[in-house]
This record gives sequence, structure tokens and C-alpha cells, in this order.
Amino acid sequence: MTDPRLAELARLLPDLKLSTEPGDLEHHGRDWTRRWTPAPLAIAYPATVAEVQGIVRWANGQGVGLVPSGGRTGLSGGAVAAHGELVVTLDRMNRVLDFDPIDRTLTVQPGIALEAVHNAAREHSLIYPVDFAARGSCQIGGNIATNAGGIRVIRYGNTRQWVAGLKVVTGTGELLDLNRGLVKNASGYDFRHLVIGSEGTLGIVVEATLSLTSPPPPSQVMLLAIPAMDALMKVFAEARHSLSLGAFEFFTDRALHHVVAHGARRPFEEDHPFYVVAEFDVPDAAAEAAALAFFEFCLGEGWVVDGVISSSEAQAASLWRLREGITESLAPHKPYKNDVSVRISAVPAFMADMQTLLAAEYPDVDVVWFGHIGDGNLHINVLKPEGLDNAVFVAQCEHVTSLLVDTLHRHGGSISAEHGIGLVKKPWLGSVRSEAEIALMRGIKAVWDPNGIMNPGKLL
Ligand code: MLT
Ligand code: ZN
Repeated sequence: MTDPRLAELARLLPDLKLSTEPGDLEHHGRDWTRRWTPAPLAIAYPATVAEVQGIVRWANGQGVGLVPSGGRTGLSGGAVAAHGELVVTLDRMNRVLDFDPIDRTLTVQPGIALEAVHNAAREHSLIYPVDFAARGSCQIGGNIATNAGGIRVIRYGNTRQWVAGLKVVTGTGELLDLNRGLVKNASGYDFRHLVIGSEGTLGIVVEATLSLTSPPPPSQVMLLAIPAMDALMKVFAEARHSLSLGAFEFFTDRALHHVVAHGARRPFEEDHPFYVVAEFDVPDAAAEAAALAFFEFCLGEGWVVDGVISSSEAQAASLWRLREGITESLAPHKPYKNDVSVRISAVPAFMADMQTLLAAEYPDVDVVWFGHIGDGNLHINVLKPEGLDNAVFVAQCEHVTSLLVDTLHRHGGSISAEHGIGLVKKPWLGSVRSEAEIALMRGIKAVWDPNGIMNPGKLL
């Protein structure tokens, strides 16, 4: 290590794995945004809590910024290291530490992949219900740092609901043991919930105790073709009324176009403006009959014009692929992503206003909508026209985002539903949080991380 700061770190923590290999710097210095050029000082691979504490204390002494790094599947630049920071990857801290059958909790290290958590829960005939397409790559520490949502929020809520305990190393190197898996703990400020969603700006999660639950009954998946925007939420209201919903997701014909071009099977002969993927419990024949009755009712009302119900797990998976494959199918087009939310009741009015705005501002650009419409969360992806310089494209999109922020404001929404603020949404934090709230955030940050070494420049 030629850099004297790294030489000092290696001296302090002789067993700590460090890398300055160009491939590692590139790989660990960025997330899925691909907008910033990675330029970290080095990558640290701690294997123990003590090493994480040692790194934080060294960083305070040397004035080096730290970027905690999970699976780097983030879409807001929250895990980007572009200014000589030390990336602290939790890849080596990826084990299941404990399972408690009475508490129904799983204690894990932060670098474990979400899918590995799912598998570990299933070994005990339980489930960890937070789920989304990046499950194979994203890590639980990153999920906690962003309060990740996903496709089952409609039934199970966000990550926050499933974190029963957290061990966190603060920006001063202090180890906190937060809530310790207690169901009831009325003892003042719950720092666990402060850390969840703090995007690595307060400290580094080094252990999490996750609540598990019983698996749901058998389910079926329904794909519905919807002829008009105003029918979407009518279908949702009816589905919520007559089915036991586990998921309710939507996407547009443009999204289907890209996912089919990427290898998925076209579900219907004809094109339709909107599609819904709904998953619902089918514990018995009565529930199956109710699902058919729901479908026929929607057909009769003209809210749905075609549909398919899965009759096997393989068919359910192929219907899910149409929704879950969208992000990957769009990636080659360097999408500019908006991740917005409004209250569920405000979705129809907001969507109508938003469609008018986007049609006016992006007349010749491919704009792809999809998302968790049952949570009031829409993903709007603007695809970069070929040949257009990326910086010019981003500047154009940011102008439209500023207009979108006004629309969101009118409908009481948020500029970031589940992807986080990171670097991408920073200019608009003030559209969601008041000046007083942001001042409190800064004050909290100053107490937890007085030297500003934790994920500098993100969120605030
Ligand atoms: C999703 O819902 O698929 C994720 O939030 C990823 C994305 O928005 O691209
Ligand atoms: Zn999403």
C-alpha cells in the first residue's frame, strides 16, 4: 500500500483485507446507476465487527470518507465512491448467526444476500417476506440502509417492519446493540428505526435480527390486460375487496415490449395499454371460484379485456418474469429513473396529471412506466435516445423531474418511494421534507458522525 493512509490502516488492522486493484475499485465503487466514474481510495473487506470499528476510527483520524457497500444494486447512487473514499464492503460478513424458533427470528450478518435469507427462513418452514427482483445480488445491510420495499409491501410492509434488532457501528466507531429482538420496548427513542433508511450516513449495520413469519397459503398469479388508465385503480379496489392479495403490480405496453425483446414470452396476441400482475391466496376451491368471479366481473365492467390465471408454479413464474424482468431489459438503454409515490387514493388523479406532463415534455422519447401501483409507487423510466450525450440527457430529465416535483407536491407525494435519495435525488430532498426536518436530520448526522466520514455527500 503506497498511500501512507492505507499503510497506517494495514498497520492498525494487519488481518484486514484491502485492495487497490483497478478491477476491484471499479466494481465496488459504483451501483446500478452507472452515472458516476468510480474513484475510491481502496476497498476494505472486514470480516469482523472489530475490524469495522477499527476502520471507522482510522477514517476519523485520517479524515477519509467511508462508503458502506452491499450488493450495489441501488438505483440512487447511494453506494457510489467517486471521491477517494474507502469502500467498506460487507461481502465477507455474510453468514447466518442464529435462528430462534420461539422468537421466530433469524440473526444474520449484513453481507448476506436477500435470497440467502429467504432460503434460511424456509429451512425452518418460515418466510422472510420482503422480496424483489434483485434478491440474488442485493444484501440485507443495503436493504436496511434503504428500508427496501419491493413486490410484497401491499401485504407485509417494508423492511422496517421486519427488523427486530440491529447492531450498528456509528460514525465514531461506537458499537450499538439496538432493541435486541424485543417485541415491546418502550424506552425512548428507537434508534433502530433511525438507522433503517439512513443510507449509510450514520453508521454501518454489522448485524441484524430479522422477524420471520408463517408462509402464506398456496397462491395463484393473474395477468390482466387493462384498456385504460382510469380502470387500473378500479381493478385494484375490486381485487382488494374480493381477493386476499399478496401483490398487485402494473406495467405498460412499452415495458412489455422491452421485456419481450429481452427474451420473455408474449402473453397475449394483441397489445394492450396496461397490464397488472396480481398474486392472491387460493387456499380452497371457494377462493379459486372467487378469483374467477372477480375476473369475470372486471371483464363485464370493461375494466379488463383479457387475462390469464396461472395453473402451475412454472406458469406463475413466467407471468412474474414479465414484471420482474423489466429493470434488466431497460438497463442497456441507460434509463433515467423516477421512483415516486402518492397515497393510494391519489393515484388516479396523480397519474392523469403525470401522463399529461410526460407527454408534453418527452414527446419523442421512450418512457416506460411500471411499479407497485397497489402501494401508490410508480417507477417512471425515461430511456436515453441513441446518440444523445448522457450528461445532456440527464440534464433534460432533471428539468422534467423539477416539473414532476410540482405535480407530486400538489398530490402530497414523494420524489423517492423506495430507491432512496443517495446522489440522484438529492436536489429534491427539500420537496418532500421541510426545512425544519432537514435541519434536524443534519443535527442527528452531526451527533452520530461528527467528522462527516459516513457516506459523505449522500442524502444530505
Ligand atoms: C422494481 O420495482 O423493479 C425496482 O424498484 C427496480 C426498478 O425500479 O428498476
Ligand atoms: Zn420497485
